[in-house]
Amino acid sequence: MKPAVLVCRAVFPDIVQRLREHFEVESNDADVVWTPTELIAHLQGKAGVFITGTQPIDAALLQACPDLRAVCSMAVGYNNVDVPACTARGVLVSNAPDVLTETTADFGFALMMATARRVTEGERFLRSGAWDRWSVDAFAGADVFGATLGVLGMGRIGQAIARRGALGFGMPVLYHNRSRLDPAVEQRLSARYVDKETLMRQSDHVVVVVPYTAASHHTVGATELAWMKRTATLTNIARGGIVDDAALAQALAQRRIAAAGLDVFEGEPRVHPGLLSVPNVVLTPHIASASLPTSRAMANLAVDNLIAALGRGPHAGKPSTALNPQVLG
Ligand code: DGY
Repeated sequence: MKPAVLVCRAVFPDIVQRLREHFEVESNDADVVWTPTELIAHLQGKAGVFITGTQPIDAALLQACPDLRAVCSMAVGYNNVDVPACTARGVLVSNAPDVLTETTADFGFALMMATARRVTEGERFLRSGAWDRWSVDAFAGADVFGATLGVLGMGRIGQAIARRGALGFGMPVLYHNRSRLDPAVEQRLSARYVDKETLMRQSDHVVVVVPYTAASHHTVGATELAWMKRTATLTNIARGGIVDDAALAQALAQRRIAAAGLDVFEGEPRVHPGLLSVPNVVLTPHIASASLPTSRAMANLAVDNLIAALGRGPHAGKPSTALNPQVLG
């Protein structure tokens, strides 16, 4: 008898096929976004679940799904999973770090550049048919090369962004993080550790790459936005909720900062209406890690973990990116 597993959203069929070699698989090929109650219903009798960064896995769900032994996510962020509750019930949790670092840093940098140089504002203008002559200051934005880059959250992705700025664009880098980096890493990235206020006050372009936790909720709110230069930009590729979107919409409308680039939103896929109505913001639908090879690598890693966590395959019992490996003894 093969154990049963659930794939919560539509994923690459050939990657799901890898699960079928080991498990009875129910896959959500219609890509329905299930409510928590529907998710619980689909999880009945399942030993494992393949999730993305959005399905909530909490104590109530665990209580209602007593057969569940492994929760494997294809996302690096795992704020949708109550890891301590899983650990308490002996449920293995894994995420998908590393495989998305460079792709996500590319996108963060691209979004920051598009924001500084007003790329989408210019495109909207052109598409509207309003472009009838060249003008000396049309869509004049801010320079990226040589400007000061502020990285809020200096984990793997933050460091990859800092490297692009320092080595590719001659940017002095300031960073703020829970803990300071090794001095050798700081030197390699030409990065200087500062407190949050200094970072917000001195940076020309702030990029937010902090993981979402209760403690990081509204890390950038009205106070932090008020510290920023009027000419500065803010880019958020981390998670909705780390930036206070209402405060940001107000700061953009009042031109208290120059512009913002946002890939993640509080309550997404809904977007604060104040952000939709201001011109000086570049908006993308949570796609920072979405290159095809990287999305496939993330899904493959979650599948590897699910196979291993449920005691199958060559790495049985040893999922490579477990968040609570202690549950496997
Ligand atoms: C991640 O991996 O956390 C991305 O944000 C996609 O959810």
